[in-house]
Amino acid sequence: MAEADPSATFDIPFPVDNPERIPAKRYYDETFFAAENERLWPHVWQMACRLELIENVGDWVEYSNLDRSVIIVQTKNGVKAFHNACRHRGVPIAKPGGQGNCKSAGFICPFHGWRWNIEGENTFVYGRHFFSEEQLAQAEVDLVPCRVETAIGCAFINFDDDAASLRESIGPVLDDLEARGMDKQRAEWWYSTTLPANWKVAMEAFMEGYHVMKTHPQLQKMLPQLYNSMYGQDTGGIGVPINPNLTVRENIHAQYEHMKLLNDGMAGMIHEKEVEIAGQLLEVDLPEDPEQAVMMWYGIVQHQVVEQLRARGEDLPDLNTVAQTNPVKAVEFIFPHYFLLPTMSSASAYRIRPLGPEECLFEIWSLTNFAPDDEHKAVAEPTVLPCDSDQFPTIPRQDYGNIPMQQKGLHAAGFEFMRLGKGIEGMISNYNRVIDAHLRGEDAEKLNVATHKLAHNFDGEIQEMDF
Ligand code: FES
Ligand SMILES: [Fe+2]
Repeated sequence: MAEADPSATFDIPFPVDNPERIPAKRYYDETFFAAENERLWPHVWQMACRLELIENVGDWVEYSNLDRSVIIVQTKNGVKAFHNACRHRGVPIAKPGGQGNCKSAGFICPFHGWRWNIEGENTFVYGRHFFSEEQLAQAEVDLVPCRVETAIGCAFINFDDDAASLRESIGPVLDDLEARGMDKQRAEWWYSTTLPANWKVAMEAFMEGYHVMKTHPQLQKMLPQLYNSMYGQDTGGIGVPINPNLTVRENIHAQYEHMKLLNDGMAGMIHEKEVEIAGQLLEVDLPEDPEQAVMMWYGIVQHQVVEQLRARGEDLPDLNTVAQTNPVKAVEFIFPHYFLLPTMSSASAYRIRPLGPEECLFEIWSLTNFAPDDEHKAVAEPTVLPCDSDQFPTIPRQDYGNIPMQQKGLHAAGFEFMRLGKGIEGMISNYNRVIDAHLRGEDAEKLNVATHKLAHNFDGEIQEMDF
């Protein structure tokens, strides 16, 4: 048979031909879903696990997405990953969502009991004499390695042996996040839920803040100037959001109350310990100009967050300096399915995996730093909740209200495409066009350049793509 031409591109169903219009069928059509399963997921870096789950030598976790599964394990020589299939008759060695420590017992296949050590080398075949020698050559029975790299406190896997490295694929945003100390954060809690929606509908609910006014009215009400200046008025840019009818001190109190709402609503995005520190600073001396006062107050709060948390033993960078050297947006996306909301010392993180064309698995972590003597143990597994559970913090619960509704609406007769605000919902267009480029089989170098444009683009514009 002739070799496939690697430069050949595929026709794809329902492509984004007009960057401001995203065809609705991309969110429920079976052929589109199959194209993603075949040509997107097997070639991209996927956030497979947080590193605190595999801190000790021998710790392993199973990660799967659709019909592909890997085992990620901590070895003496760093993190490794293996395709989760026994070399005998293909049975997965680890169960979905499984985890454990293999340092003493290694891995054991549940079917006929073949074994492997932590490095994936086969150490035992029951009844060897039944097999031809060549079937049991060492390389034939060792577990098959899978690409794995670490960054921002996570192990990322890629099923494609020819893919560019994680950092080449994702770009400098990983360095920016690590400059904020995100590689040292750990989960303080972890929730998961199943949403009746396409994975992209769930991702896109977090790609703009334009929905705050109607979906998160408590935030809008507390700082209307902030949200109106970003989303409601043509101000030609984001000013410092002050209320001209309030005194300087009242403005500072409104900012503080807004921080409390974000903490209550999102946990790690603004951490409780940051709210507590901000609360000590409500009466600090500030300039009379309210805009300058608000800006200066945030600088003082951030400085005190660093000082006080360092004094408690946390290993934090100087966040005011990092805000200049490695600025990040309110939401940063790691293509295709992980994103973070870094504000000060802590963050919220989300990962979304498809379960079917109209169902996805949605996880949220609250991440923060812990002092070395902190008793906090790694959160071993997610708390699984129904998507309407009131255990979810307020803000994602409000977002979960929209996601299943939108999925239904996308099916409406006559609804052919979503129409995007090119100046504020550009991320959704950029994301979908990078997905299309994967499905078409575009050149790897072009894909990397385009993927880098997805960084620092929350609330951003539609970008030119070179394909
Ligand atoms: S399938 Fe694993 S030992 Fe037989
Ligand atoms: Fe939201």
